[in-house]
Amino acid sequence: MSATVKIEDASIIHLDRLFEIEMECFKSEAFTKQQIAQLLQNQNCISLIAKENNKIIGFVIGMVYVEDDVLTGHILTIDVSPSHRRKGVGIKLLQELEKIFRDKHVKISRLEVREGNIAALSLYQKLGYRKVGKLHHYYGDAHGILLEKALAQL
Ligand SMILES: CC(C)(COP(=O)(O)OP(=O)(O)OC[C@H]1O[C@@H](n2cnc3c(N)ncnc32)[C@H](O)[C@@H]1OP(=O)(O)O)[C@@H](O)C(=O)NCCC(=O)NCCS
Repeated sequence: MSATVKIEDASIIHLDRLFEIEMECFKSEAFTKQQIAQLLQNQNCISLIAKENNKIIGFVIGMVYVEDDVLTGHILTIDVSPSHRRKGVGIKLLQELEKIFRDKHVKISRLEVREGNIAALSLYQKLGYRKVGKLHHYYGDAHGILLEKALAQL
């Protein structure tokens, strides 16, 4: 992991670059620019950017809410620019997001991932996430996997 990668809070000023990376990562399934703008301005969202040499190379957005009386953190998207992958940037973004979740007393972190997304599944499993369900046709033609990790005792 390069020591020069820094994690910082994201804001609406970063919208153009975040949308560019989102398109690189997800193409036709990308969040729209408007959706990213709404998430960046949502008080319940935590948005972080990874910067190298002052250039944004990745980001993560999570949302905190109460579900079944449990404070839950939901990872909505994590994107690392293709030219900067396999250097630990994804792990660094997720670990920082989990730290903020814990600081907010979030008990459980969860997310959905496309069944065949080996990179994301491997990343999450490395960080201790477990498969807890299958979401049939969650992505239209493809199924989704629901992953969870306990951040604190329930
Ligand atoms: C998933 C993603 C965020 C990973 O980012 P990254 O910065 O490359 O990940 P890291 O370098 O931190 O990888 C950490 C670990 O995850 C696993 N991993 C990451 N990419 C992998 C791949 N292509 N194949 C297999 N395992 C992979 C490995 O265990 C890796 O550790 P290692 O490199 O020491 O073997 C990135 O591939 C991406 O942006 N993908 C497109 C967007 C996406 O699918 N997001 C997830 C939606 S749920």
